[in-house]
Amino acid sequence: MIEIKHLTKVYKLNKKQMQELHTKNNKKTAVDDLSLTARPGEIYGLLGPNGAGKTTTLRCIATIIKPTKGEIYVAGHEVQKESEQVRRKIGFLTSDIKLDPQFSTDYMFDFFGRLHEVPEQKLKERKEELFTYFGIKEFAHKQIKELSTGMKQKAAIAVSLVHNPDIVIFDEPTNGLDIITARSVMDYLRKLKAEGKLVIVSTHIMSEAEKLCDRIGMIIDGKKAAEGTVEELLALTHTDDLEDAFFEIYKEVKGEE
Ligand SMILES: Nc1ncnc2c1ncn2[C@@H]1O[C@H](COP(=O)(O)OP(=O)(O)O)[C@@H](O)[C@H]1O
Ligand SMILES: [Mg+2]
Repeated sequence: MIEIKHLTKVYKLNKKQMQELHTKNNKKTAVDDLSLTARPGEIYGLLGPNGAGKTTTLRCIATIIKPTKGEIYVAGHEVQKESEQVRRKIGFLTSDIKLDPQFSTDYMFDFFGRLHEVPEQKLKERKEELFTYFGIKEFAHKQIKELSTGMKQKAAIAVSLVHNPDIVIFDEPTNGLDIITARSVMDYLRKLKAEGKLVIVSTHIMSEAEKLCDRIGMIIDGKKAAEGTVEELLALTHTDDLEDAFFEIYKEVKGEE
């Protein structure tokens, strides 16, 4: 289970960032008092436009950055107090963690497997399963820098799953992928869910969230603006597709400002 309780993340901006944002304020609240719970056996989606705070939230869960306020529990472990235990439980995929360009997918897979103390025999089995599923074998020994965007993303996904984590945290996993590869990634997330794992993904693509997620948290300006199953969100907004539902909620949130 993932439990986020009143998460707030405030970034300190440097001079360049302040200039870019045309602001004199050196603080940016990326996530603002956000709470949510995601459970084993479900795919929970964080849905929101660019800049909503999705990546920041997922990076806090994955112990990459520290919350400014609030607590996050991953399988009962608090991310700041027990970050080591949390890291063992999770597989984290994000576009801002790049695989080392001069190494091969095969090498990186073994490297991270050993880092996670996966026994050698298990490591072989995992590699066979994941490399077959994602069609990695044909480029497994090429340097990462020679791979296409889609191949790199597949490689990053396989590496993030090397230790067979119970909790899978994927930040915009289909970004930059062609539709065939995107679908195989979504199918794999469904398979993980069917195995009883907890999957939390972020996306700004409405149709993807609608198809993939059991529950969706709509994130606007760092806050959870609405949450529920697709059916619940449609009923709440009297709409019949998720994009319309999102805009209803967006108007409501922005109208109050
Ligand atoms: N390292 C950082 N320093 C300063 N501001 C940041 C940093 N990372 C993200 N932000 C800002 O925080 C907000 C939320 O960003 P992010 O979590 O990346 O949103 P999303 O993933 O939903 O697009 C944005 O306004 C972004 O510009
Ligand atoms: Mg993001």
